[in-house]
Amino acid sequence: MKQEIDWNALKEAALAARQEAYVPYSSFAVGAAILDEEGFLFTGCNIENASYGLTNCAERTAVFSMVAKGSRKIQAIAVVADSPTAISPCGACRQVLAEFSQADTPVLLCNLSEDTVQTTVGDLLPYGFSKHDITHAT
Ligand code: THU
Repeated sequence: MKQEIDWNALKEAALAARQEAYVPYSSFAVGAAILDEEGFLFTGCNIENASYGLTNCAERTAVFSMVAKGSRKIQAIAVVADSPTAISPCGACRQVLAEFSQADTPVLLCNLSEDTVQTTVGDLLPYGFSKHDITHAT
């Protein structure tokens, strides 16, 4: 049986990851923590670039870290930033999260003031493009 998700621990891991954010341009630090299906933890922060468009968001850093270690299935993700309300992932990150999630995969969005929104990948990206739209995808 799958373990209960420890949301406090996942949020704490996202907060710790946020400390490593490289944000000389926006000063807006974001952290993300993913629990995969096997119970392993992967984290990420946003990494900006002088060529602004090359910036990588915290969520995608965490997903890419998971995939680079050979893991493919997100069980849960927490994201945190110093936003006025719970952080809202950008469209690109929603698409990348969906690639390695199910529609009902839970997402916890947080800020530093204890505002939280518990949602799902499917609610964040309704009618998203996926491998099922590509007839020859495996
Ligand atoms: N950012 C994230 O890392 N995740 C989000 O969910 C929203 C935006 C980053 C990108 C950029 O480094 C900074 O926040 C401001 O847009």
